[in-house]
Amino acid sequence: MSTTPIESSQSQKRKKVTTRTFRLKKQHGERISMLTAYDFQTAVALDQAGLDSILVGDSLGMVVLGYETTLPVTIDDMLHHCKAVARGVRYALLIGDMPFLSFQVSDNEAVRNAGRFLQEAGMDAVKLEGGRERAETIRRIVATGIPVMGHLGLTPQSVRQFGGFLPQGLSAQPARGLLEDALILQDAGCFGIVLESVPARLAALISQKLSIPTIGIGAGAGCDGQVLVTHDMLGLFERFTPKFVKRYANLYQEMMRAFSAYKEDVEAGSFPASEHTVEMPDEEWETLLKELRE
Ligand code: KIV
Repeated sequence: MSTTPIESSQSQKRKKVTTRTFRLKKQHGERISMLTAYDFQTAVALDQAGLDSILVGDSLGMVVLGYETTLPVTIDDMLHHCKAVARGVRYALLIGDMPFLSFQVSDNEAVRNAGRFLQEAGMDAVKLEGGRERAETIRRIVATGIPVMGHLGLTPQSVRQFGGFLPQGLSAQPARGLLEDALILQDAGCFGIVLESVPARLAALISQKLSIPTIGIGAGAGCDGQVLVTHDMLGLFERFTPKFVKRYANLYQEMMRAFSAYKEDVEAGSFPASEHTVEMPDEEWETLLKELRE
C-alpha cells in the first residue's frame, strides 16, 4: 500500500498515544493537544496532523445532529460515531464521551456502557461528567480496566441545573468545590480531567495541585492541554460560537461559496463539462443508433 509523504515520515517516529503518554507529558511539562471528531475523514485528518488525542464528544448532538443541548444523545448515537472515528485513527488516544443517563442510573449500567466504548467502538478510554458524586462510579469503571477522563466546570449535561451554558467557579466557594472535586476524581482513578469554562487562575491552580493532566476548554493557558470542538474552531457551526473559541478557518462560508457556485453552474448548464463526463466510443454509438433504426 502506498503512503503519503506525511504518513511515511511520521509513522517512522510516531507511537500510539496512551494514557501513560498523558502522564509522561504532564511530568515533562509538555502540553497535550486534543480536538473532537465524529466522522471518519475528520478523524483521519486529525490523526495525520499529529493531534495527541481525539474526543468523540457528545457535543455531536449539537454540532452534527442539530439538538439544542447534548441531553438527547443516546449511547447508540455515540457508539455509531465512535466506530467511524476509530476506523480512521492509528496514533491518537481515542476517548468516547458517555452520554446523559448512560452512567448515572447505576454503577453496573455505567460499567457495562463504558465497556461498550472499548469492546464495540474501538475507543481507548471514556469521559464522563461530574464531580464527587461520580467518584464511586469512576472507581468501578477504572477497576474494570477502562481508563476514565473526568469533566468538571461547565458540564453541558447539567445545563438545565445551571440555567444555561454558564461559566462555573466564579466565586470562592464553588471554586473551592471544583478544586476538591478534581482531587477526588484523581483519587478515584481518572487519568485526566477536562476543565470547561472556569476562571483561568482557578484552572491553573487545579492543574498545579494535580499529578494527572488537565485539559482545558475555556479555562485559560495554565492547563496541561487544550481541547476545542472541531466544528467551532473550523467555523462550521453557525448557531453560536463561545467566547473562548479561536477560529482557525471559516468553513461554513467556504461551504456556502461552493454550494452557491454549484447551483449556479447547474442552472447555467456549465456543469458537468466534458472533463466530468463519461463517453462511449463513436462506433458503439453508431451501432446503437443503427440498431434502433432497424
Ligand atoms: O462533548 C464534548 O465535545 C466535550 C468537550 C467540549 C470537552 O465534552
